[in-house]
Amino acid sequence: MKTIPYGKQHISEHDIQAVTSVLRDDFLTQGPKVQEFEQKFASYIGSKYAVAVSNGTAALHLSALALGVHEGSRVITSPITFAASANCIRFCGGNIEFSDIDPNTLCLDVDKVRKKLEAAPKGTYQGIIPVDFAGYAVDMEAFRKLADEYGMWILEDSCHAPGGFFKTQNGSQQNCGNGMFADAAIFSFHPVKHIACGEGGMITTNNQKIYEKLLLLRSHGITKDPNKIKNNKEGWYYEMQELGFNYRIPDILCALGISQLKTAKAKLQKRKLIAERYIRAFKNTSVKVPLANLAEGNAFHLFVIQIENRLDLYNHLKEHNILCQVHYIPIHQLPYYSKLYGSQSFPEAESYYQSCLSLPIFPSLTQDEQEYIIDKITSFYSQKTSK
Ligand SMILES: Cc1ncc(COP(=O)(O)O)c(C=O)c1O
Repeated sequence: MKTIPYGKQHISEHDIQAVTSVLRDDFLTQGPKVQEFEQKFASYIGSKYAVAVSNGTAALHLSALALGVHEGSRVITSPITFAASANCIRFCGGNIEFSDIDPNTLCLDVDKVRKKLEAAPKGTYQGIIPVDFAGYAVDMEAFRKLADEYGMWILEDSCHAPGGFFKTQNGSQQNCGNGMFADAAIFSFHPVKHIACGEGGMITTNNQKIYEKLLLLRSHGITKDPNKIKNNKEGWYYEMQELGFNYRIPDILCALGISQLKTAKAKLQKRKLIAERYIRAFKNTSVKVPLANLAEGNAFHLFVIQIENRLDLYNHLKEHNILCQVHYIPIHQLPYYSKLYGSQSFPEAESYYQSCLSLPIFPSLTQDEQEYIIDKITSFYSQKTSK
């Protein structure tokens, strides 16, 4: 069996043609494909605005700045996410504080965040970064209610969940990152994600002020917009109004993103099919599937199992060319953060980390490959129990 990674892109002939046609065109960057990608992505997610940037980390950084994070700001996130969800606050000189996960959803536990807020004077914390971990759609309505009580903003990290959704108390379906509840949301187009550009990111929002600030910061804080500059007589005139960055994404990658969007729904269905097969296969076994009963709006970026003898299973699968991954080492235990904030304890996150493993899930995973993976896992545990 050839090597099976835990995630990978699927590139079609249409995708290749979309990219090569841009190479023959006038703009490699700052051309029309950027806006086209933004508009199509906003319509896929259901947000008013979208701003395409160079990667998901840049999307987090710009969002944090646009939301007003500065030296001394205090912001809360989950310890079980990619480090960038926390790092973006440090980039702006703010402090990131962790709050434990709910073991049933593996996402930030809204009740624990409430307790943290209740224990401090109002105004202590400025924002919350909930993460739609593994593709599970966080109940953003509950977070919005809490954030409003404390006058806080919400930045939803939806990197794992384009196409995912949750249902509100009154039963309406709300897509991850659609801007109904969060002030801004971010996505990544790294090859293991649902929509692959190579590198790339997007910020969605329904707030015009945030949108305009993001546009400015994405390109050096410079504008040529005649409505926004004082002196618009000379055609060459521009103003640098803020200290911005070059976080632009080229047209070449946007063309790939636009093409990938066309098959995003079908690929999401494939992920769900693969997840359902795993769930069926591990029913009544010692392999625990934490998100099995919460599947409706799950975008299944990752398929997480919880098992005993994780390291032995990981090595056994690796010997058979199945490359699993662990998502994630709790952020507070990473050396940078433990040096910065000292030793901290988040028991649910730590206990989850002891046993979690992400199995291969990506649209082009074949049924044969999946059966091979399942067989290697179930036989590993049946040999253990028969010993
Ligand atoms: C939850 C989460 N947030 C942020 C990022 C950062 O995205 P990028 O790799 O595009 O910078 C990732 C990517 O792995 C992620 O998984």
